[in-house]
Amino acid sequence: MSAILSVDHVGVRFGGLVAIADLHLDVAQGEILSLIGPNGAGKTTAFNVMTGFLKPSQGDVRFRGTSLTGLSPHAIARLGLARTFQRTSVFPDDTVFDNVMIGLHGQGAQMARAPLLAALIGRAGAGERQLRARAEALLDWVGLGARAQEKAGALAYGEQRLVGVALALATEPAMLLLDEPVSGMNASETRVFVRLIRQIRERGITILLVEHDMPMVMEVSDRIVVLNYGRLIAEGPPEAIRSDPAVIEAYLGQGSAARRAAAEAQATREAAHA
Ligand SMILES: Nc1ncnc2c1ncn2[C@@H]1O[C@H](COP(=O)(O)OP(=O)(O)OP(=O)(O)O)[C@@H](O)[C@H]1O
Ligand SMILES: [Mg+2]
Repeated sequence: MSAILSVDHVGVRFGGLVAIADLHLDVAQGEILSLIGPNGAGKTTAFNVMTGFLKPSQGDVRFRGTSLTGLSPHAIARLGLARTFQRTSVFPDDTVFDNVMIGLHGQGAQMARAPLLAALIGRAGAGERQLRARAEALLDWVGLGARAQEKAGALAYGEQRLVGVALALATEPAMLLLDEPVSGMNASETRVFVRLIRQIRERGITILLVEHDMPMVMEVSDRIVVLNYGRLIAEGPPEAIRSDPAVIEAYLGQGSAARRAAAEAQATREAAHA
């Protein structure tokens, strides 16, 4: 397998707490890989290491052959590794469209600093027009095109997360890390999101997904990796993970919020199908 991202014996400690212990993991080019595990297993911590928000206590991450050690989140994003956050926030009083425009500007889109001068040489207008066209295309892609002029605060929480996905896609990544993207979505929104993930992959973008919605994970993943207390306890295709005793034990053994989340997701689905 040709790995686009390699996690090489990464460990993360917070004082005495071992959040990740010696994680070793390859993500293949073009696959949809899910990283699952109970609350506190170290999933978000792993994302934070991969995207430069956190320095590991040991080990290294390589992306397309380049070591990410010491690189800033911004530099890593420029290499083509994008992410969404577990807790996404929008500017509620701005429109959905303006939220994306603000994000695009924040990503350092080339804008003229001197509007008058730029207008004279005809560049700011073109740049801004291009940016607006890009924002529209991104919103269409994630399915928010029809809601572009609504206030972002009027969107359901699950839909607000799509704004974060649009902004991650705006960086034209080779790989996208999604941290609990369907939390807060109902069953039909989740189905639409599964289609979106597949479309993203069809465009050649590798996907690493963290999600507690087990039916969704089982449906969309090529491969699943399971963490428990910062350790990899299982790895394989969905059919194998579903029946893996160590995985069942990790989820059922704790009476954890992960288990509750999975049960709730299942109940939502069943209600939708009833
Ligand atoms: N900045 C931090 N400082 C101290 N401890 C932290 C920090 N970030 C995470 N932890 C701890 O590290 C462990 C792993 O947390 P992490 O957020 O990676 O879990 P997770 O698998 O993403 O869980 P969830 O499913 O609830 O999002 C937890 O015990 C958490 O309390
Ligand atoms: Mg998390």
